[in-house]
Amino acid sequence: MTKYEITGGTPLNGTVCISGAKNAAVAIIPAALLVDGICKIENVPDISDVRLLLQILSDMGANVRRFGPNTIELDCSRVRNAVAPIELVHRIRASYYLIGAELGRFGRACVAMPGGCNFGVRPIDQHIKGFEAMGASVNLMAGYVCADAPIGGLQGGHVYLDMVSVGATMNIMIAAVLSTGMTVIENCAKEPHIVDLANFLNAMGAKISGAGTDVIKVRGVPRLHGGSYTIIPDQIEAGTYMAAVAATGGNVLIENIIPKHMDCIAAKLREMGVKITEYDDSIRVERTGRLRHVNVKTLPYPGFPTDMQPQNVVCMAAAAGSSIVTEGIYENRFRYVTELLRMGANIQVDGRVAVVNGVDTLTGSLVKACDLRAGAAMVIAGLCAQGMTTVEDAHYIERGYENIIGKLQALGANIRRMEEYSEVPAGLVAG
Ligand code: EPZ
Repeated sequence: MTKYEITGGTPLNGTVCISGAKNAAVAIIPAALLVDGICKIENVPDISDVRLLLQILSDMGANVRRFGPNTIELDCSRVRNAVAPIELVHRIRASYYLIGAELGRFGRACVAMPGGCNFGVRPIDQHIKGFEAMGASVNLMAGYVCADAPIGGLQGGHVYLDMVSVGATMNIMIAAVLSTGMTVIENCAKEPHIVDLANFLNAMGAKISGAGTDVIKVRGVPRLHGGSYTIIPDQIEAGTYMAAVAATGGNVLIENIIPKHMDCIAAKLREMGVKITEYDDSIRVERTGRLRHVNVKTLPYPGFPTDMQPQNVVCMAAAAGSSIVTEGIYENRFRYVTELLRMGANIQVDGRVAVVNGVDTLTGSLVKACDLRAGAAMVIAGLCAQGMTTVEDAHYIERGYENIIGKLQALGANIRRMEEYSEVPAGLVAG
């Protein structure tokens, strides 16, 4: 088991460089299945979700070459409608993009239902609604999603999403790229990673317009050619480090960011009393006095991101006064609060609403990472708590944060990674 040991109380100071966006990379990599040629992709985050997706593509027959930790070359031209290995697919949510990519490229898909962080049912009915609008027939059987295009291939369709869905917006876009005719997707999500996926596909010859607005149009093209692309910086990784400085105090320059993407996160931290200075591609975060309480509701972009909710609650947990947090996206994204209560937090949860009553300080304890962002929140709690905190199941954190230990240590954090084996590995037995 992967554990992090943290001794809290040290303000963070220095400079941290943000990696490529996880939620862009985990869509762009499956989308490369559509490309008849070589894709060179830079600023790919070196995280376990990316490594898993590259393994899946490789097992399907793609040629995957890595040039250092953050640059890859993908050649999927020889992939023939292979079935992605279920033991890998159901470990992450983003494997659902394989459905759109296989359906778009081969006219049929058979992909195991996705996994991912457990904070609610997380259905994919809107993805299916989009595929059916393009003429596909989709069946769920024995834990697999099986989709077949009509004779003649997918046709342009018109779909109005019942709710704003990042995954459905991107998956339908992927499926539509090689279809015949125009596909219109309405009530789209507008996250930065949606724009990044559209820009990647257009760089390979797709004809997508409107990404970043609530209406996206995809004019089908016969094939996509190879090319090069650089993934945008990760908005949530950057926000996580901003929250860490806010919680521990200190003064950190966060480099390789797109300031516009940070607007809502920065605005909320400013309300709490954090000093934030924006530059062209970096942002400085300084916290001196005690944080003030604040209310927040998570919403689709450009609202406050749900993926920053746990990290922000940790900042509120030691702020002056009471804060109210409303989770607008998921029905159950407060499971991690139980772990914060072990550290002395004073939080009441009722469904989608949490009331956070600030305490003077958190105290170190043994806690678990319930999922990716909750795990990051536990790290921030350990960094600002008095005493030692051990975060178990820290492998969740490494799904989405490249080199988080090294980046935090460079900022002065007292944190180290432990690998605990359930049985003593062979060769380590004495005598
Ligand atoms: C993506 O998940 C992200 N994951 C999540 O980030 C993020 O929390 C979420 O978008 C919202 O921003 C990836 O990009 C891999 P949704 P996704 O479809 O696509 C409901 C992280 O920490 N819904 O926007 O699954 C759904 O249940 C992860 O990086 C349906 O009902 O999110 C949810 O309540 C965690 N039917 C809401 O819509 C559908 O067909 C928004 O989900 C699709 C979604």
